[in-house]
Amino acid sequence: MSISRRTVLASGLALPLAAPLAACDRISAEPTPPNVPPLKSVAPCPFGAAIKAMQIDDPDWVALARANVSQLTPEWEMKMEYVLADGLDRPNFDRSDAIAAFAQANGMALHGHTLIWYSQGKEAFAGLSGAAFDRAFDGYIAALAGRYRGKVRSWDVVNEPILDDGSALRDCHWSARYGHDGYMLRAFEKARIADPDGVLFLNEYNQESVPAKGAQFLKLVERLLKAGCPLQGLGLQSHLWIDIPDGVIAAYMREIAQFGLPIHVSELDCTLRTENPLDLRSQADRLARQTARVTELAEAFTALPPAQRFAFTVWGLRDTDSWYRQGDKDDGRDKPLPFDSFGRPNPMAAALAEAFRA
Ligand code: XIL
Repeated sequence: MSISRRTVLASGLALPLAAPLAACDRISAEPTPPNVPPLKSVAPCPFGAAIKAMQIDDPDWVALARANVSQLTPEWEMKMEYVLADGLDRPNFDRSDAIAAFAQANGMALHGHTLIWYSQGKEAFAGLSGAAFDRAFDGYIAALAGRYRGKVRSWDVVNEPILDDGSALRDCHWSARYGHDGYMLRAFEKARIADPDGVLFLNEYNQESVPAKGAQFLKLVERLLKAGCPLQGLGLQSHLWIDIPDGVIAAYMREIAQFGLPIHVSELDCTLRTENPLDLRSQADRLARQTARVTELAEAFTALPPAQRFAFTVWGLRDTDSWYRQGDKDDGRDKPLPFDSFGRPNPMAAALAEAFRA
């Protein structure tokens, strides 16, 4: 069975056991947290994490990031929904500037996320058509990619262009104007002009876990490259779950490697939740399955030729930082990230370190 992370989030699976967070973590964490070396010291590439600007003011987060991380991806505040919240004419770069300054001050690389995404910009672009739409589209990319030129190492130029079942590309406000491949070709072209040195990525989830979606992604990459698109890197979001069948992730990594392009594991987390409310597996069983999935991904990545190991990024450091643990969807128990709420290594951190060193 495969599930999308959206289904997980939408399914309201929150267990009725939601006890206070700290108490839960004490019960569910390993009795002795594993001894794990700083992840950036063992990763075969920059080791990245998502950052929200408010975390800059959290000394515990900063210490954990300084110890383990050599690259950052803004989790929210470089996206169109945030940047254009006040409208097209009033772009807001305050928080992405703060993140960029933090990265620079701490000697960390920065990955830009994301220029064009089907899920964003509909409101800001509403009412525009023809040449005005084109000016806004090109202008947005020029403004954002131009502002961080020389400060970012790389960009997710297009995010999540493929439907969940892998049957086709998504319809969206961008494809309505430029066509399905057309909006991507245009975005990459404009990004190339605005930032000639940033490595330009196409980023997608569930390609490594849902074979039909992976196949669609590979076809898309082939077409874009054939059309002369300045696409230079492939982003595997890797929002994993525990029941992805053995071997699927490694097989996909071998396939995608054949383009010879740099690969970014760009948003790794692995939820312990499943869709089945009658799934009575213990937390320990779930963690063992998680370790297997994460190990398979990290080993497959480590086996890539060195030039293709662009970066390996986790979508948050502590479980409580995870998007799976926000708001009323928080079940108080999920452990999708390498560190627990106290910043102690989870089994996932140990699995990563082990796989990187293998
Ligand atoms: C998510 C963030 O984690 C949330 O905080 C935000 O509310 C919504 O976006 N794929 C992506 C990321 O490319 O940008 C998404 O991040 C997770 C899925």
